[in-house]
Amino acid sequence: MIDQATIDRIMDAARIEEVIGDYITLKKRGANYTACCPFHNEKTPSFSVSPARGIFKCFGCGKAGTAVTFVMAHENTTYWEALKVVAKKYGVDVKERELSPEEQQHNNDRESMMITAAYAQDYFTKTLHNHVDGKNIGMAYFAERGFTKATIDKFQLGYCLDSRAAFSNTALRDGYKKEFLVKTGLSVERNNGELIDRFFGRVIFPIHSVSGRVVGFGGRTLKSDKSVPKYVNSPESEIYHKSNTLYGIYFAKKAMMQSDKCFLVEGYTDVISMHQAGIGNAVASSGTSLTADQIRLIKRFTPNVTVLYDGDAAGIKASLRGIDMLLEEGLNVKTLLLPDGEDPDSFAKSRSVTEFTDFISQHEEDFISFKTKILLSDSKNDPIRRAEVITDMVRSIAVIPEAIPRSVYIRECSKLMEIGEDVLTGEVAKLRRKKLYDDARDAPRPREPQPTAAAGDAAPPEAVHTPSIPAFVENIFCREQERELIYLLLRFGNQSCFSVRVSAYIINEIAGEDLSFQNLVYRQIFEEYRKLLEASETVDIRRFINHPDQKICELTIDLLSQKYTLSKIWKQPDTPDLEEDRLRVEVPKAINVYKSKIVTQAIMHLQLELEGKSGEELDALLLKLGELNKVRTKLSEMLARPVF
Ligand code: GTP
Ligand code: MN
Repeated sequence: MIDQATIDRIMDAARIEEVIGDYITLKKRGANYTACCPFHNEKTPSFSVSPARGIFKCFGCGKAGTAVTFVMAHENTTYWEALKVVAKKYGVDVKERELSPEEQQHNNDRESMMITAAYAQDYFTKTLHNHVDGKNIGMAYFAERGFTKATIDKFQLGYCLDSRAAFSNTALRDGYKKEFLVKTGLSVERNNGELIDRFFGRVIFPIHSVSGRVVGFGGRTLKSDKSVPKYVNSPESEIYHKSNTLYGIYFAKKAMMQSDKCFLVEGYTDVISMHQAGIGNAVASSGTSLTADQIRLIKRFTPNVTVLYDGDAAGIKASLRGIDMLLEEGLNVKTLLLPDGEDPDSFAKSRSVTEFTDFISQHEEDFISFKTKILLSDSKNDPIRRAEVITDMVRSIAVIPEAIPRSVYIRECSKLMEIGEDVLTGEVAKLRRKKLYDDARDAPRPREPQPTAAAGDAAPPEAVHTPSIPAFVENIFCREQERELIYLLLRFGNQSCFSVRVSAYIINEIAGEDLSFQNLVYRQIFEEYRKLLEASETVDIRRFINHPDQKICELTIDLLSQKYTLSKIWKQPDTPDLEEDRLRVEVPKAINVYKSKIVTQAIMHLQLELEGKSGEELDALLLKLGELNKVRTKLSEMLARPVF
């Protein structure tokens, strides 16, 4: 753990032009430096580094960040690893938080387990290459599968002898502790205390972490006996968490970045054969359904995923749900259905690289069309099944976070299903509103921030309260207005308006009414700002500029450094702090505009709902409508006149 004080020290010491200058050649231009952007292909430089602000920004591809996030992107490390790289350059002592004796022990245990796993990998590999059974059985099997020597070496494949405890006994003799042999799952302890090998009689596929350390194993039996499980895997342990490991990620990460794409396959041998065929950006979830952590792991390297399926219909259906998760995480998902009876392994083996890549580019299709077709294919002309399919598709589309791909998919789906786009749009919107509403309701209520007195003797002007929005109104997406408020928060949060800080004022007005931002990045900034504000009176904006989450960091930099022209207030790109009088006008105004937008939308929805209604139902709706109209009037009155 690196504490905040150390992070601040590192950021203070770091000169961004020096850090970036270690990686690419910068040319001085005025106060800034420029270069050709290392993150996309270009001939004329649009990559700019500002030493004064400590940030970089590419005007071509939009990538922006700090010295640390540059290192992160360039070396493809985590935020913490990048911080350490920069710290080392400037000789900043990284004092990780003192570990308690228990934590220390835990770390030692982890390290011991890693060492044990590395030993086992080496033992299995040596057995494969040197032992007579390794050569005759293990190596013969890999050869029969068509794995080359280079492939076997690269993936550190191995063999575990078919005698119950050969590995365990050797490991004990070599001084490895029983405790760690058992904890890593390499050995299984019997009731009488004896160890036996988990993987005996199997060929071994070591599983590597992102950074290339062996954390677990998969072992494939060579027997055709159906009562023996085909694969045995290392159990969950302190070093091996199935849910956040992808087989092949260490070998694939570079190719994933370079091609900006990832192939997701099912098994060990699929990954290996694809790599051997020259398609180096393939990883596998190893038979389990995808988890959110695995998706995030992919996302560290690329947002584009193509899922490869062999032609088995039951398998495809079972995995559709997992793919919704990819969509939900904002990944661009495509699918590729292989010819009947082929899996990526067999397919890669029987074609040349060009044939394979040609097949991919010809047959890849977006997930939504793929899913629609699969589901429709067995609904035939049954209208009830069709309706279910539509509901299912709407659910898939509704989880996609960005509006543009959502609307593209709606159009696609509308064509395939022969159903109106507007109907689908309406259904998707309904689901999204419901989900957002549920999320907002489930979110814990914040403690109200304490108002902070402004300096000065004169009685401060009364705070203006913007009209409240009735509780039955569901939040909607209004990106621009949310962005404007986040801008005010980040840019002027520590200044005062009325008798409080701008930040406290905005937070009170928004969170106090249970409104929450629908854009997830804005919402996260808002929530974190609020938490920081509970701990201290002002918020150091560097928290957001140097945020570990790249999206937050980029957005903050964007808002603070760009000629931000969304609002008409900001005449000059670099308006110095606004005087309090101005803030007293502009801040409530931004909140009012935001609320107006929500109320106006709510009114429109109500009016649509009114159609065809009668009796009590109609009365109830009219009552709501009346209430909303009153709020809207109040809001527009306030917007029309100056507030002070
Ligand atoms: P081959 O049959 O050797 O081509 O292996 P494969 O990797 O292609 O296996 P398959 O397509 O049958 O299964 C895909 C993945 O599911 C495997 O790589 C394993 O990760 C997992 N898997 C398959 N069978 C078993 C099993 O019996 N037990 C466990 N735990 N996992 C399995
Ligand atoms: Mn296979």
